[in-house]
Amino acid sequence: MMNHSQPQGADYNYTVVRQFALTTVLWGIVGMSVGVLIAAQLIWPQLNFDTPWLTYSRLRPLHTNAVIFAFGTSALFATSYYIVQRTCQTKLFAPKLAAFTFWGWQAVILSAVITLPLGITSGKEYAELEWPIDILITIVWLSYGAVFFGTIVKRTTSHIYVANWFFGAFIITVAVLHIVNSMAVPVSMWKSYSIYSGAVDAMVQWWYGHNAVGFLLTAGFLGMMYYFVPKQAGRPVYSYRLSIVHFWSLIALYIWAGPHHLHYTALPDWTQSLGMAMSLILFAPSWGGMINGIMTLSGAWHKLRTDPVLRFLVVSLSFYGMSTFEGPMMAIKTVNALSHYTDWTIGHVHSGALGWVAMITIGSLYHLIPVLFGHGRMYSTTLVNVHFWLATIGTVLYIVSMWISGVMQGLMWRAVNADGTLTYSFVESVEASYPFYFVRFIGGCFFLTGMFIMAFNVIKTVRAKESMPALAEA
Ligand code: HEM
Ligand code: HEM
Repeated sequence: MMNHSQPQGADYNYTVVRQFALTTVLWGIVGMSVGVLIAAQLIWPQLNFDTPWLTYSRLRPLHTNAVIFAFGTSALFATSYYIVQRTCQTKLFAPKLAAFTFWGWQAVILSAVITLPLGITSGKEYAELEWPIDILITIVWLSYGAVFFGTIVKRTTSHIYVANWFFGAFIITVAVLHIVNSMAVPVSMWKSYSIYSGAVDAMVQWWYGHNAVGFLLTAGFLGMMYYFVPKQAGRPVYSYRLSIVHFWSLIALYIWAGPHHLHYTALPDWTQSLGMAMSLILFAPSWGGMINGIMTLSGAWHKLRTDPVLRFLVVSLSFYGMSTFEGPMMAIKTVNALSHYTDWTIGHVHSGALGWVAMITIGSLYHLIPVLFGHGRMYSTTLVNVHFWLATIGTVLYIVSMWISGVMQGLMWRAVNADGTLTYSFVESVEASYPFYFVRFIGGCFFLTGMFIMAFNVIKTVRAKESMPALAEA
């Protein structure tokens, strides 16, 4: 994989890759700006300006949809289309269909941007979009699958590089999750009701929710990791055998872990315990992936001193390791009794989301964009370095403040006096959380500032093309 002596850049279909790469930056800024706004609203509620479509309840799903499905998924489209061509040494299958996936996905995102602030929602977390948009998502996703697997089928290499297994598993599983969880009975153009009811609905929803984490926010990004870490480090993947073992164990285990989101609910007790056990075992394949990524740097550690792009990639793996250690711990029922409903969950989410998903995406884009636009490197390596520190400090401020406020909230809610009455009222716990919300807001501002710097650097790199045509390939 390291030596591409076969087709030159011009032989690959980079148009759709470029489009998705640039929109990743754009949607990252939009999604994170909404994140910063809702973080501010938790401190200064008047920031909703008494306008229904600016209320926290409507902007929060806009944030989650924008960062996961607009920012994260665009990054996955861009990198998977790039990697599958490079590693299969062939052009994308069905280029018109590939172009359709770009425009179709933008249509999905715009529909979300319009409907969510209007309060149009199915009420299922991470699956809020109403049925007409769900149908569009299904059509775009099946087209994505056709383009991706069509390219694998027409490959000119004998083997299928490991990154493609992860992308393939992500594409198939997300299709199944989306279709099963979105089954609903429409009652009007913009309202539908789930075909499942009660505890079954909850179980299907969190089977979907957790596997969105496992396959979209994890497997897809591991695909990215398996290509860009070796590329940027200039070293082969540490262990091909480990990649096979952790791939199969990861996909075999993730699918069972959903009930850890539903501890102490009406779900049968044994399913909760099964979810807990599977989540604990999940620690092993998760760390298998992290170790494989980090050990790929063997013999190239010195590059970390000078290469901020590699630093993004390696730090993202460290956050991946951290969040996949924390997740299994939080899945233990007695730990979850404290963490659930608190900001601890929010801290965990963002150590995965900012530390892992966003950082690996940013690192990969800094590698990819100069290649896509025929320039040897980013316009400014100094600005990449500044971005690295803003992102790292921002993430640490975010997650540490949420850990402290989360554990504090959990302890305050369960504190009882000798006579059995509660020591603290709920409002007291909210009041005590304010300083931490402020630190989180500052962390968010750091991270967002880094994204603006990235946008500037990307625009400069893209524009440099005119004066500096096709310099080098990464
Ligand atoms: C500037 C960066 C960001 C800021 C300031 C931010 C802020 C927030 C805030 C304030 C919440 C609501 C927390 C609550 O209800 O208590 C939230 C939720 C969430 N954010 Fe972010 N966010 C950022 C980036 C991201 C990114 C990049 C992702 C994903 C890739 C992400 C994924 C999520 C998810 C999944 C939730 C829902 C968590 C849950 O329901 O447990 N965020 N974010
Ligand atoms: C071995 C891996 C992991 C396990 C076992 C795990 C486990 C958990 C647990 C137990 C919760 C709390 C559920 C609750 O109390 O409601 C949770 C929440 C969450 N985790 Fe993880 N986690 C893992 C990795 C990750 C990663 C890598 C990410 C992101 C990239 C992530 C994203 C989330 C999100 C978004 C939620 C909040 C869901 C919600 O309530 O809206 N997790 N996870």
